[in-house]
Amino acid sequence: MVMTKHFDLDMIPDMSGKVCIVTGSNTGIGKACAMELASKGAHVIVASRNSSKGQEAVNEIKAETGNELIEYLQLDLMSLASVTKFIEEFKAKNLPIHVLLNNAGIMANPFTLSEDGIESQFATNHASSLFPCDFSLIFHPSLPTNEFYSAPSRIINVSSNGHRFIFCSGLKLQEMNDEKSYSPFGAYGRSKAANILFTRELDQRLEAEGITNVYVNANHPGVVDSELARYSSVMIQAILRKLVLISTKDGAITQLYLATSPEVERDSIKGKYYIPFGMEKAPQQESRSQENQTALWNYTEALLKEKIPNYPGAGI
Ligand SMILES: NC(=O)c1ccc[n+]([C@@H]2O[C@H](COP(=O)([O-])OP(=O)(O)OC[C@H]3O[C@@H](n4cnc5c(N)ncnc54)[C@H](OP(=O)(O)O)[C@@H]3O)[C@@H](O)[C@H]2O)c1
Repeated sequence: MVMTKHFDLDMIPDMSGKVCIVTGSNTGIGKACAMELASKGAHVIVASRNSSKGQEAVNEIKAETGNELIEYLQLDLMSLASVTKFIEEFKAKNLPIHVLLNNAGIMANPFTLSEDGIESQFATNHASSLFPCDFSLIFHPSLPTNEFYSAPSRIINVSSNGHRFIFCSGLKLQEMNDEKSYSPFGAYGRSKAANILFTRELDQRLEAEGITNVYVNANHPGVVDSELARYSSVMIQAILRKLVLISTKDGAITQLYLATSPEVERDSIKGKYYIPFGMEKAPQQESRSQENQTALWNYTEALLKEKIPNYPGAGI
């Protein structure tokens, strides 16, 4: 199937002077994004959990692009202590932040809990991202409360067409840590629906605060040839391989559209869901529900307050 390209990699503008954090950028779509941003002159933070894989990616990106402003910062989304440390280390660099690309993710792994006792797909794909997206990272502590540190900025939450998997089951937030009712793809669907619901709710909350210069959007990158199916059975991997349509480079296009295209600011694209290649699409109904948005935000914020010592809440 030939998909038309509203945007392509050669349309990425010069990113010199822009600081971009890309989570899960040691491999897959995240690495392709980091590579493209680096090739356009951005200062890229490769945020990933494994330091040797992360450093290896940094070396490869530097060698391929000639951009020396690429650095590794450790971030394990299965540990809120690691997320807290990441935020502290990033803030200590005293850098602005222009792009936060929440790309890291896992899919359909067997039931596991994160270090903090949260179902692993919800923890990795969603919960650990609310925290950096609130005032703690995007707002610099030395500035007055509502003054954005490096406006305008972009937050991109990488979701998936798999957000549709909750069509029959709903969000089921209260049951998520119950191993007996765990379904690997159901939990993936919930986490990916959460990416969209969170995007919409964050956008509304920013708007309500009068913050107009943060562009938060979600996307589905396409069905991409990456390591995402690593936890699935050989049979499921074989089926997915048959479905694989695009390379990681092409999989990077839609999130890079949202991260870099001047159209995003020109057309005030906010709180939206985009599909390949840079096209807006309405998410499935469950992921457009105000009720689900509010329930998810309140649930996640309460969870983080319970799990992170002295966490005062999102602040918006
Ligand atoms: N591939 C597709 O067809 C497809 C379709 C729809 C949506 N997506 C979404 O696209 C995003 C990128 O996926 P991908 O296809 O590039 O998969 P991938 O090749 O498996 O890459 C996933 C990245 O996330 C990182 N990661 C996983 N758990 C982490 C943790 N606890 N802390 C920090 N980083 C962690 C991985 O690091 P390690 O290498 O250390 O594990 C890796 O860098 C995901 O959010 C996925 O849901 C992908």
